[in-house]
Order: sequence, then structure tokens, then C-alpha cells
Amino acid sequence: MLPFFKNKENSKTEITLADVKLPEHIGFIMDGNGRWAKKRNLPRSAGHSAGAKTFRKIVKYCDRIGIKYVTVYAFSTENWKRPEEEVNSLMKLFKSYLEEAISDFKDEDIVVRFIGDTTAFSKELQDLIEENEKESADRKGMVLNIAMNYGSRDEIVRAMKIIARQVKDGTINPDEISEEMISQNLYTAGQPDPDLVIRPSGEYRISNFLLWQSAYTEYIIMDEVLWPDFTEKMVDECIIEYAKRNRRFGGV
Ligand code: IPE
Ligand code: IPE
Ligand code: MG
Repeated sequence: MLPFFKNKENSKTEITLADVKLPEHIGFIMDGNGRWAKKRNLPRSAGHSAGAKTFRKIVKYCDRIGIKYVTVYAFSTENWKRPEEEVNSLMKLFKSYLEEAISDFKDEDIVVRFIGDTTAFSKELQDLIEENEKESADRKGMVLNIAMNYGSRDEIVRAMKIIARQVKDGTINPDEISEEMISQNLYTAGQPDPDLVIRPSGEYRISNFLLWQSAYTEYIIMDEVLWPDFTEKMVDECIIEYAKRNRRFGGV
């Protein structure tokens, strides 16, 4: 990514976060844990542990700089295809992180929410998910959406079923179905769409993340960094890069 400078009386001054409009909602596709571990001859699970530490650091930083919503992609509906051993180690990691998350995000006053079909997880994990949401619901800080067993297509199918049932029982007329109604039946109901999605590890794809919500999202794909190595400074760089973009939403 190129540094962004503003011209000031012929001298070049580097732009900082204080100079730009912050995105309200940032999504992170936390990718590259496996490659990070492989580079170090470590098992993939070590990459996921390192990625979880980075998650904690980056979430807190986003809250500190004034971001209102952060959505992190932690486990997709397709990630069940991975070897059993890897899925098991991820479930263990989720458990230990969710046990700590309740108090961990307390100081930052972060509201913890989960998006995805969490009914697929063990009872133990589902209880932790519920506890995190309950304990943090009245907090006033940033909203953190943790996408677990999340797939955007699955989310859209779920929304369609809810709406279809309402049509069937006569509560709504098919002509009343609107973009707004679909948005309101997604897991992210009531939240602004992501302004910016950041994907480290250089994959140029969406991988089933927030498809409906990212119709006009700005994407930053970073080739040079794997998620466990992602830093606070990179968050700043991405926001400054985002601020350079001319968002037209189809207008002029
Ligand atoms: C992202 O890292 C974490 C999850 C999908 C759970 P990966 O595990 O996909 O890492 P790479 O892409 O194999 O390097
Ligand atoms: C996307 O990463 C999902 C998460 C980061 C949780 P993947 O590693 O699963 O995506 P693909 O398979 O490279 O598209
Ligand atoms: Mg990956």
C-alpha cells in the first residue's frame, strides 16, 4: 500500500487518522493462520492460537480509535470441511477465548454479538455464546460481531425462509418484500453495512462473507501480511487508504 500524503505549502505531510473520516463498520477476514504456522514449521493450530491473540489486539484497537462496529470472520460454514483434528482444535480455542471474552472486553465496554448458525456448536460453546451476548448486551461501546459458522448464502436462505413463512401465514404480501425487509432479517439486522472489509493473506475473494451487506463496501486485500502478523499500524494504513477512495454508490 502506498503512503498517503497531503500537500501543505509545498511540503508533504503524512496523513494520520486524525485527518480522515473513520469508517463506521469494518470487517476483517482473519485469513492466513495456517500459512503463518507453516512458515514456522508449526502445526496449523499454533497459527490459529496466534491469530486469536491478534484478534483480541485488533478489536481493542478499533474500539480505542472510535470504530462503532467490527465484524470478524472466525469460522465459515465451509470450514467444517477441514480435517477433524483442525476443527477440533478450533473448537477448543473458541471455548477458551469465549470464556475469557466476557471479562476481556469489559474495560472497553464492547458489546459482543455472534452472527451465524451457532446451533451447530456444542452445548458448552452455545452456552458461552449466550453468556457473552447476555453479559455484554447493556454495554455502550463498540459492537463486535463474531462470525462463527457464518456463511452469507446460508444467512440469506434463512432470511428468505422467515419472509416466506410470513407470506404463507398472510402477515405480509409478496409485493411488500423490500431490500430493507431482507436486511432486517439478516443476522446483522439494525446495523450499518460494512464500509470497509480488510482481508490479509492475499486471497482475492469474498469467501461467503457479508455478501448482501457488502454491495458497496470498499475492499482492501493485503498480499504482504498473514493475519497473525496484522498490527494496529496496519489498521491505520487501511483506514487512510479507505479515506482516499471515492465512494459513489452508483452516483456521480
Ligand atoms: C483463517 O486462517 C482461519 C480460519 C479459516 C478458521 P486459515 O486457516 O484459512 O489460514 P490459511 O488460509 O490456511 O493460511
Ligand atoms: C475465510 O477464510 C473464512 C475465515 C477467515 C474464517 P478461508 O481460508 O476459509 O477461505 P478460502 O477457503 O481461502 O476461500
Ligand atoms: Mg484461509
